[in-house]
Amino acid sequence: MKKTLTVGLMLAGSMLLSSQASAEAPQTPAPMPVEMQQMMKVYSPELRQKVMALSPELKKTIQQLHAGHTRRAKETNLRQIMHEILSEYQSIASAIATDNSEQAAESARRLANHRIPKGGLLAYFPLDKVNTNDLSVLPTMNTIVEGSALKLADAADKGDLSMAASYMSEIMTGCVACHQKFRGVPGVSANLMTPASK
Ligand code: HEC
Repeated sequence: MKKTLTVGLMLAGSMLLSSQASAEAPQTPAPMPVEMQQMMKVYSPELRQKVMALSPELKKTIQQLHAGHTRRAKETNLRQIMHEILSEYQSIASAIATDNSEQAAESARRLANHRIPKGGLLAYFPLDKVNTNDLSVLPTMNTIVEGSALKLADAADKGDLSMAASYMSEIMTGCVACHQKFRGVPGVSANLMTPASK
């Protein structure tokens, strides 16, 4: 399975990168996951190269992370999706505060199954972070944020809102960790004479 995916990725990459590379492509190519193909079509050559250089294991992991989400955005970018996620988080807080376990559970499940932005996640990460080492933390971030959201939903289903509340900080810990690594400094002005303090 791993081999199949790797061959598929290599083939698609060589087709996309240059026509001369297609001479090295295997004779009987294994099909590349259609979704990854589509995403890579719209990548810049720089990003494509970075993604092709990721380890086979990580490529597979990223494919699985995407596949684990059933909702796809057409045009929405990651920043907009992040605001959707924040809205869900706030909805959960509101639900817990008002003893509405159904709202808490539904919002938490929507947060965990957030929409995938146009082009997938990697298209919005800083290019120098698109490497096997930096991206290897993604599954952990996913478990902290989305795993905790699903646990929160289960607790809410059982009507245990104090247990549900305890997962709020775990989710936010994941948001903060990922932002520290991949977000940069949002909202920096190009018209200030002094640089941002962070
Ligand atoms: C997988 C890593 C990752 C996780 C986990 C994550 N974010 Fe983000 N977030 C980002 C990146 C990268 C950006 C910058 C996107 C851009 O500007 O294109 C961002 C941007 C945002 C923004 C847009 C405004 C800003 O400050 O840049 C909001 C709001 C946001 N995230 C909320 C959240 C919340 C709430 C959570 C947790 C429930 C969360 N994020 C979890 C990676 C992550």
